[in-house]
Amino acid sequence: MKLKTVVERLSMMGGNRRNERSRSAPNSEICDLALEIEGLAPNNAHTLLKALKHGLSTETAEWDRYIAAETLSTAIYPKYKFSEYGRLFLEDREFISYYEHIMDPGNWHSFDRKYTLRELLRLVEHLDGDMAECGAYKGASAYLMCKAAESTPSLVHLFDSFEGLADPLPVDGSYWQRGSLTTPESALHATLEGLSNYRTYKGWIPDRFGEIADRQMRFVHIDVDLYEATLSSLNFFYPNLVPGGIFLLDDYGFSSCPGAKQAADEFFAAKPEQIAMLPTGQAIIVKQ
Ligand SMILES: C[S@@+](CC[C@H](N)C(=O)[O-])C[C@H]1O[C@@H](n2cnc3c(N)ncnc32)[C@H](O)[C@@H]1O
Repeated sequence: MKLKTVVERLSMMGGNRRNERSRSAPNSEICDLALEIEGLAPNNAHTLLKALKHGLSTETAEWDRYIAAETLSTAIYPKYKFSEYGRLFLEDREFISYYEHIMDPGNWHSFDRKYTLRELLRLVEHLDGDMAECGAYKGASAYLMCKAAESTPSLVHLFDSFEGLADPLPVDGSYWQRGSLTTPESALHATLEGLSNYRTYKGWIPDRFGEIADRQMRFVHIDVDLYEATLSSLNFFYPNLVPGGIFLLDDYGFSSCPGAKQAADEFFAAKPEQIAMLPTGQAIIVKQ
């Protein structure tokens, strides 16, 4: 089937399912279409999506657009599973504004993870203790942590080499290289402009952890991608995390970070806490 025809047929699909939720497979017309465009070369996907965007009129019901997107996604990349229509977090204008302001334009890849972080921070509001982040980079998650701690006496401690990653080990696979994700410390301060409840610790993890050895923590975000730094972070912060406090591991469920997962699995194997892997790729551990 020609691309133009695919676009025309998708554009013509009516709004009869507008108020339904996607409990079942898309209607048969869309299924037929998906079959017909199966086999589309991945490098044609971009062209198809562009054409589709222009082919769907602005009046096309949002539900139909959603189903069209699901159909294309399923045809082009079946491994990806479209989630339910109508999730409210996708309508959170304030959060979308924060994200657009703080991240590179067009990069929505960590939208769900940042949202999860923001929500989990609510669960430690009632606890005493500071917060820490291992791997602060340009401060997108540090910003959410600082905002969550803003009305409390607690501090947010931010650890980063600002020289990117250290040497990966064999357990880390081949995705990362030494120096990946290098960013200047000034980028972090620029993101956190106007906030004063944080401290930065430039250096290789765990060299500067000792400077906060006397502080109790209620929330620790670990986002360093590799085995050694993940393990050192867990080793240091576990005894200082208060009961009910949360570890959020940003990298646990990603094929690009096998070492980060192994470090956490090894560390918690002999601990009473369980690791819960989230569909976002993060993992959460609540201290007992
Ligand atoms: C994925 S980025 C963190 C992203 C950040 N949490 C955010 O939300 O934007 C990983 C960061 O970890 C830092 N990092 C990785 N390994 C480190 C180590 N061994 N010591 C210090 N910093 C490290 C890198 O410099 C990088 O800035």
